[in-house]
Amino acid sequence: MGMVGPTSFWSSYTFWTGSSIAASILAVNTVPQYTIGQSIAKTATAIFFAQWLVYLIYAVLLYPRYFSPLRHLPTVKEGNHPIMGQWFAIAGEPSGEPMRRWLNTVPNDGLVRYFGMFNRERVLLTSPKALAEVLNTKNYEFQRPQFLLRGIMRILGVGLLLSEGDDHKYQRKGLTPAFAFRHIKELYPVFWSKSREMVKTIEEVELVQKKPNVEAEIGGWASRAALDIIGVGGMGQDFNSLADPNTELNKTYRSVFSPSRQAQILGLLQFFIPAWIVENLPIKRNGDIMAASKLARDTSFQLVRQKKEQMARKEQLHPDIISIALESGQFTDEKLVDNMMTFLAAGHETTASSLTWAAYMLSKHPEVQTRLRQEVHEHIPSLNNEINDTLIDGMPYLHAVCQEVLRFYSPVPVTLREAVINTSIQGHYVPKGSVIMLCPWAINRSEELWGPDAGEFNPDRWMKPGTANSGGATSNYAFLTFLHGPRGCIGQKFATAEMACLVAALVGKFEFEQTYPDEEIIIKGGITARPKNGMRLNLKVVECVGDGSGEGVLIQKSALDQAWSLETYDQLARIRAHHQSVLGLNLSQDRNLLFSCGVDSVVNVWDSSSLRRLYSLHSPFEVGDIFCVAYSQRLKTVFSGAQNSSIQWHHFVSPTIDGPAENGVPTSRKHRFFDSLGPGGVPTAHSNGTEGPIRAIGGQAITISPACYKAYAHKSYIYSMILAKGLLEDGTDQEVLITADGKGTIKLWTTGALGDAGLQLLHKLKSKGSSVLNLAYKAPFLYAGLSNGQAHIYNLISQQLVQKLDACDTGITQIQILGSDFFCGANGGSVTHFDHRYAKLKSWQAHKGKILATATSKVGSRKLLVTGGNDNSIAFWSVTNESDQARPQTNTNDELFSSLRQFVSFRTVAKNPACVGDCHEAADFLRKLCNAFGAQTSLISPQDNLNPLLLATFEASIHAKRRKTLLFYGHYDVVDAQESKDGAATWYTDPFSLHPLNGYLYGRGVTDNKGPILAALYAIAELVQDGDLGCNIVFLIEGDEEAGSRGFMKAVQEHKAEIGAVDYILLSNSYWLDDHVPCLTFGMRGVVHASVEVTSGKPDQHSGMDGKAFQHEPLKDLTVLLASLIGPSGMDIRIPAFHDSVDPLQPSELRAYKGIATSLVAGHPEIKNEDAFTQSLMQRWREPNLTVHSITVPETKTAVTISSRAKATLSVRIVPSQKADEIASSLRTFLEERFEYLQSRNSIKVSITAKADPWLGRVHSEIYEELREAIIEAWSFDASSHRDFAGSQEPSSPIIAPNIRVRGRRASALSSAGTFTAASTPHEPLFIREGGSIPAISFLEREFDAPAAMFPMGQASDNAHLDNERMRVENLYKGRDVLKMLFARLGRSTNFSIRNRASTITI
Ligand code: HEM
Repeated sequence: MGMVGPTSFWSSYTFWTGSSIAASILAVNTVPQYTIGQSIAKTATAIFFAQWLVYLIYAVLLYPRYFSPLRHLPTVKEGNHPIMGQWFAIAGEPSGEPMRRWLNTVPNDGLVRYFGMFNRERVLLTSPKALAEVLNTKNYEFQRPQFLLRGIMRILGVGLLLSEGDDHKYQRKGLTPAFAFRHIKELYPVFWSKSREMVKTIEEVELVQKKPNVEAEIGGWASRAALDIIGVGGMGQDFNSLADPNTELNKTYRSVFSPSRQAQILGLLQFFIPAWIVENLPIKRNGDIMAASKLARDTSFQLVRQKKEQMARKEQLHPDIISIALESGQFTDEKLVDNMMTFLAAGHETTASSLTWAAYMLSKHPEVQTRLRQEVHEHIPSLNNEINDTLIDGMPYLHAVCQEVLRFYSPVPVTLREAVINTSIQGHYVPKGSVIMLCPWAINRSEELWGPDAGEFNPDRWMKPGTANSGGATSNYAFLTFLHGPRGCIGQKFATAEMACLVAALVGKFEFEQTYPDEEIIIKGGITARPKNGMRLNLKVVECVGDGSGEGVLIQKSALDQAWSLETYDQLARIRAHHQSVLGLNLSQDRNLLFSCGVDSVVNVWDSSSLRRLYSLHSPFEVGDIFCVAYSQRLKTVFSGAQNSSIQWHHFVSPTIDGPAENGVPTSRKHRFFDSLGPGGVPTAHSNGTEGPIRAIGGQAITISPACYKAYAHKSYIYSMILAKGLLEDGTDQEVLITADGKGTIKLWTTGALGDAGLQLLHKLKSKGSSVLNLAYKAPFLYAGLSNGQAHIYNLISQQLVQKLDACDTGITQIQILGSDFFCGANGGSVTHFDHRYAKLKSWQAHKGKILATATSKVGSRKLLVTGGNDNSIAFWSVTNESDQARPQTNTNDELFSSLRQFVSFRTVAKNPACVGDCHEAADFLRKLCNAFGAQTSLISPQDNLNPLLLATFEASIHAKRRKTLLFYGHYDVVDAQESKDGAATWYTDPFSLHPLNGYLYGRGVTDNKGPILAALYAIAELVQDGDLGCNIVFLIEGDEEAGSRGFMKAVQEHKAEIGAVDYILLSNSYWLDDHVPCLTFGMRGVVHASVEVTSGKPDQHSGMDGKAFQHEPLKDLTVLLASLIGPSGMDIRIPAFHDSVDPLQPSELRAYKGIATSLVAGHPEIKNEDAFTQSLMQRWREPNLTVHSITVPETKTAVTISSRAKATLSVRIVPSQKADEIASSLRTFLEERFEYLQSRNSIKVSITAKADPWLGRVHSEIYEELREAIIEAWSFDASSHRDFAGSQEPSSPIIAPNIRVRGRRASALSSAGTFTAASTPHEPLFIREGGSIPAISFLEREFDAPAAMFPMGQASDNAHLDNERMRVENLYKGRDVLKMLFARLGRSTNFSIRNRASTITI
């Protein structure tokens, strides 16, 4: 019998079961008296256990002592338990610790034997020779023991770590180039940027408000940083766990790669129970781990797919390891994913552990820490500096410290190998199955290999001449941290570079010591060695985020054009402004005063022309660094935001150059800088010196009043602040203070009651997971630059997040608006230019370091963007602001016309994400117009990412009698439109610029629905001006109608109280029947949109090879279903009881349809048959219809494919009194029942995608009556010639219309204008219905219990939704007149009765 271990035990297990049963059958049949109750089962069980007992005695007691071929090796005697060997020492001490002892105490020549649980033998290798044999020369004779791997294999897959033999050789060969230094060096900046993020986040999260000393558990931070680094560097996926460790993705990965206690127990169970049983136990951990690993693998597959798509587009891939492996073309997707999982497992906790131990050792050895910090600061003066491989690898002491930490606390303390054949080590016979212990923890501290000081932490051993790579040890194998040979760590260079960056950032930023210096550090066992209770350190910041110059020199920000001559770009002045770095600047509106703040906690006020200091403002509190400052000219008040998260302000009685009136000279302070005479700093803050403008002395010192202090205004550093006007609804120009912090929170404060109530919080916005570093404002948008490189844009009126833009890889330190465009300056020195539609125009490298300041200016006609970086340079960029020129100019005096021109110019396509900015701007434009006409307005946000709803309320004029309320519904969004391309004439002109032509206005949205909205608004405006508005009017204008009014109904319901009670509802969103006779619409059909999908759940098949008559095919099933829905004629709707709820045709109704036909026949000779025309109107307006819009199979199929899936989309137009809900449900039931009847094995899915109820207005209501009268008045029905001008007017613009016929959706098939004469012209508007549907109308009617009316301003040929959408100018103006009359008169009669009502309409 070979090695006795769990593997051989379990292989015997099946044999024993078989032999026990066989022996038991034999015994029961031959010697039944010796069996247990003559039962085969009982006897077999007894025999099984008897065998097991014998085996146990043999394996545990006899084999190791008397039979094992290894029994001659030197064997550990210490603590030898008769059954458990040295197991108690192994389990009770940190991994590797007992081996370290045995290696030095058991005399040996390279191999030492010891016993584990149940006396299982282990061979510990102690000499370089033995190690070289196992790791190098006989590498493939020793493999990782299978019993350890099975559990993780199902999670990781078989990547490099778990592969063996040829598979391993192939993978290793394929991956080695990706880990070559030429690639790793490209990852140094990634390592650095994450290291920097780590320390900055620690500073923000841990130090806030507790400065200077605070306790931080560095192990947790190390884990988060290491996960982020292996994510970005290994596979190009930023887990962002530093910013937010609790995202779903992070939690998933952590649960896969940081095994819980339950997982460890499960691992242990595998010693006793076969792995396949353990893996399938129905316990939570098994389910969780499989779900999490599936998600992790799916995410990884997605990443691979993305990379492949990038490759196909010939784009350069990110330089991460997996991308390089992918480019080599040697790996399948599956293998790449296996290796992604492997890198995460192998490269995450290992590096985290090494950083934790580095922090621990540096806190134990302050002299090493100080020396290292000096080296780091010499090479990297500021955290914000960029680094490369030469810079990091050029720090010998950093290298020495990292190597020594890796030697002293090897993150992988022990690992095992199993002999896969009978072999030998150093001449000793080693049978197949022997388990070999490789122990870096012991070898790395072997006195024999390292000398007598092996147990001491001494980085200098790596500093002596020629020892940088060996640490002075005599053999390569003395440093076993990454093992050696073909199975050694492939990620060694990756790991050491990463560790160097992390340590440099940590030591460069903080001074640290152990929080509990006497605490015994208990080392946690497991694969990596880490402190069990974490590593708690006290941190103190030694480097601040600043301008990097460290000199406190004022690099001009908004004052650039004062301090630099823009003609010559010569520097005119340089002021030593602060003791340390300058962090914020602000120029007063009149440009006379310049405010600066900085690390020295002081706000200085300068005369911007003489650059003399006027004041220095000090806080009575320890506020830390002051990051930002803002001055309100109106309030004569300066605000500042500080590191301790407070806001302070100071009101100047008269901030003049000639001398301030305040006397608040500070008395005594404990502040760390104020009383110091630091190099190049302010000698004293109170001096009244008279030195010239070069130095920051002089002026008056003022102590800010404790009352002007808002403690804990934020929960983190306040990085940026600005003042913005026009945000308050009272219409005053009172400013709002906007502040932003390191945790991504933006706060809006009123500055109205500073004297009494202080700052009052108005609103909060949150940019999750990142710091907001900079703010800019241009009404109504707030631009926030984030530490993750994104710019977030908010509409401050609706308080919505409008857009998230990826500007750069590093944080956005500056955001600057120029005209309608804006620029993002980055931490990494780049500037990115966006236009007003948020399109990225270009990006360029402006500076070598961080961009600290930006400003805009003009020299002559040239627009300049000025940037200042911490590379000590200021750069001037000439900016062509193309999008500015593209914007239309107002060139007409007619207000309505000019507003419409502007309104149309917003590309308000709700379905197009690129237009989101335009949509918000349009909403704001409309809101301002309403405000200007006296409305109370608000923008309602249905939800993030949806356009806001405008709610504007106009109060009836004072002498209005009954003050009823009318709700006007419209929408400012439009369907998209493309300009003509390649000569294919579509639009005459740019669809988003209004063009007059032949009496029409062309432009997208002009008739649907922007023109009617403005007509209504201008009607109100005139009435308000004249004091004649007869009713209250609520404008409810949505921005998503063309995209399905997402969130509209919910938003209306939620804001019902704000909207108030409503008496009438009015829409102007439909069309006449021709271009001549005005109409009033009183009915619309409803609609149910649905899709039906039939799937086989199998792959596509071949009709020749697989097709059978008795087989159900998805497309066949679907067509049968559709046929059964519309019957053999195709004109019947077969849903049971479908027609029952259609209102029967009343004689009066029929008369009304006939009346319409008769009226039109007079001017439309093309109506050949009046009855047929009447029928056609009825079919479209009052009868339901079912349309099948499309039938699709997933991809292009060949002529012989049997598709696995087929989908149809259809809609049912419904009519009064059908209900959308009921029809939707009976449609679904019908299809499902019919499908059931087919007895098909395929499956069906019916989805209702949209629905709207039909609508029938109350034509006898007051609103219709007033509209009818107003239309008659406005259109002067007696003067028909007046209206017949289609084509009769000259174009009013030089644009010549190409010869295109106006075509498109028409309300009827009638020719545009008709041939009416004065006598034949109808004398009334026609009361019509429409075949289309508008969901909002019946919803609003129901919701407000008020009658709705529809007044179409547009004509039949308006081409809504199509190319060359237009509106007749006359209709726009007359539409406004009609509405003016309506709004003035509505509610005028207390007792409404149908006056002067013509009898033709009796529906
Ligand atoms: C300080 C950090 C690290 C240490 C101490 C370390 C240590 C080790 C050790 C001891 C092994 C051999 C394990 C065994 O055979 O039982 C190993 C293998 C491996 N390590 Fe690392 N590792 C570190 C970081 C990394 C990183 C960052 C990566 C990936 C980017 C990585 C990828 C791997 C892989 C793929 C293997 C398997 C190699 C093979 O079997 O061919 N390691 N590592």
